[in-house]
Amino acid sequence: MRESSRRLIALIREELRLEGDIPLHSPEFKGREWEYLKECLDSGWVSSAGPDIARFEEAMATKLSARFALAAVNGTAALHLTLHAIGVRPGDLVICPSLTFVATANAIAHAGATPLFADIEPRRLGLDPARLAEFLRANGPRFQGKRIAACLPVHVFGIPADMDGLAKVCAAHGVPVVEDASEALGSNYRGRACGTLARAGVFSFNGNKIMTTGGGGMVVTDDESLAKRLRHLATTARLPHPWLFDHDEVAFNYRMPNLNAALGRAQLERLDDFVARKRRLAALYGQRFADCPGTEFVAEPAGDASNCWFNALRLEDAGARDAFLAETNAARIQTRPCWQPMHRTGAHKGAPRAHDLTETESAFARLVNVPSSAWMVA
Ligand SMILES: Cc1ncc(COP(=O)(O)O)c(C=O)c1O
Repeated sequence: MRESSRRLIALIREELRLEGDIPLHSPEFKGREWEYLKECLDSGWVSSAGPDIARFEEAMATKLSARFALAAVNGTAALHLTLHAIGVRPGDLVICPSLTFVATANAIAHAGATPLFADIEPRRLGLDPARLAEFLRANGPRFQGKRIAACLPVHVFGIPADMDGLAKVCAAHGVPVVEDASEALGSNYRGRACGTLARAGVFSFNGNKIMTTGGGGMVVTDDESLAKRLRHLATTARLPHPWLFDHDEVAFNYRMPNLNAALGRAQLERLDDFVARKRRLAALYGQRFADCPGTEFVAEPAGDASNCWFNALRLEDAGARDAFLAETNAARIQTRPCWQPMHRTGAHKGAPRAHDLTETESAFARLVNVPSSAWMVA
């Protein structure tokens, strides 16, 4: 057995004393979830209106020190809504990493635009500002005859992308930035909350995220006119009136139901505790793999604080990755490779690339995710 597999198994079975099947990630409901859900059912407010939605939005805005928050049915819808609201239109291009979950690229396609894949920097796993600067210097805000309407960086596994670098490059070419912070609730970049570092930030509360609403998403922004536009578009563009149904444009039914928001309020109360425990688990991984041959723990960048949503190891090559995956899954410890890069998927392989995607390819060949649930540590 490989040394990296042996160390993972020892950490989980001997040091943490966890038995049976260990999932990559699963949620924990030990707060006021039942209480808030019961109140919600008792009140009859279960659907896309109700007091928990506003309370959840207010709590998120306060937590992140953002001015406005809008709860949506899921992260993909929240991304689509935001891209549409900032003016991304059919025929446009939107810069994003190829190393991401498919939802990032899908949301761009839902807006009628096409992803323009750019490479990542290996340390942060987010878009590389230096390579993006080179590309935009050479091309300006147009490529292959199409307008570059936005840039959508992703904080992969909760590790903050270099937002100052990206903001500077994009501002120089008039390209608006929206953060796909789906995985990064509770992460900080240079002391500021991920999701609040651009025109708007989007979170996901899918069941595998650091906190969950079952399914759900949220857009946060400091821009009042954008916040109003998001709210209008998310609620079928219905015009305010006591009884008349009138809608001034074709829009979306993307509001989060009250039931999900009730769950979200309870989970949000526990967020700091989830982050603290996940950071302790990450520290254990860091120690255990510090001197492991051919294996590097992917640590947070100095000066930033990751929420440690998914812990990752960088192995020697694709062969080492596959052996590690086989050995650890056989030991009933769920591990998995990074996502297949988007430019290799059937869904998005035809999309243009800003340059070669060398670091993206290398990350896919070498990265594995290891179990990361908060409940794994006390
Ligand atoms: C990077 C990224 N973007 C977008 C999403 C989409 O979120 P959802 O599953 O809530 O639609 C996810 C998670 O699922 C994600 O990890």
